[in-house]
Amino acid sequence: MTNAHEFGIAGLLGWPVAHSRSPVIHNHWLAQHGIPGRYVLFAVPPEKLEAAVRGMPALGLRGCNVTTPHKQAIFPLLDRVDDLARRIGAVNTVVVEKDGTLTGFNNDGNGFIQSLRDADPAWRPDSGPILVLGAGGASRAVVASLAAQGATEIRLANRTPDKAQEIAQSVGSAVKVVPWEAREEALDGIAMLANATSLGSAGKPPLPMSLDRLPKGALVGDLIYVPPETPLLADARARGNITVNGLGLLLNQARPAFNAWFGVMPEITPALRAAIAATF
Ligand code: ATR
Repeated sequence: MTNAHEFGIAGLLGWPVAHSRSPVIHNHWLAQHGIPGRYVLFAVPPEKLEAAVRGMPALGLRGCNVTTPHKQAIFPLLDRVDDLARRIGAVNTVVVEKDGTLTGFNNDGNGFIQSLRDADPAWRPDSGPILVLGAGGASRAVVASLAAQGATEIRLANRTPDKAQEIAQSVGSAVKVVPWEAREEALDGIAMLANATSLGSAGKPPLPMSLDRLPKGALVGDLIYVPPETPLLADARARGNITVNGLGLLLNQARPAFNAWFGVMPEITPALRAAIAATF
């Protein structure tokens, strides 16, 4: 059904979608590779999700990204969902296959892991214990992806412990729930700390946490990218730790999606980073 020489359209299904940086990323790559196509925003309210998704093959779309509030609701509308997306319980990318059927993926967690490895090539998910803060959708993607990539000890702390417990139950024995109040002690011996709470994002208070027990060689990641450096990352950087913000997740989750839709695995170049920086 798809033809490499035909104008290819992909986009983002969400409600709202106006603030997404994904069009900048994918349209940059389309232009860079001389591929005729466009990535567009589809503002789809929940009651129109089914009609919108059913219409994708008929419209000849290559696929789409999926964001709030559709990441779970889209499951029954897809013909197949890959294992990791199933374990995460959310889809962030849909591919329209050649036969017009729809496959769902979730590249968010792997995108985050890739951005950590780009920043510190010596780190791997099985390098040592990991502490993840937060138990929302972003945390679930990161924790499930870390476990799938071989992490053996993921300490998970969340203000509401039941939500952390639920992730532990669905991801498996690598996940150890620790009390929110014990998050500082849980820094002992870790190889990586990830903030998947919304604390530290623009308009929110900073994450209340001393990094005195953070090991010197530990990598520190934050899923937030507005602001580009949260107080947590500033603190960690001042201590000499390698830090990574959430922009790397956004860029790295987009690469396999672009490849599936347009047949080219694109690169994250300084020019792309500059194009994104210009949107802030
Ligand atoms: P996302 O989909 O981006 O993960 P979310 O589902 O709203 O967003 O999750 C936000 C996370 O930030 C949750 O882990 C939330 O903790 P709760 O599960 O207890 O709500 C966490 N969070 C938000 N505000 C917080 C605060 N003031 N103190 C501690 N954790 C907070």
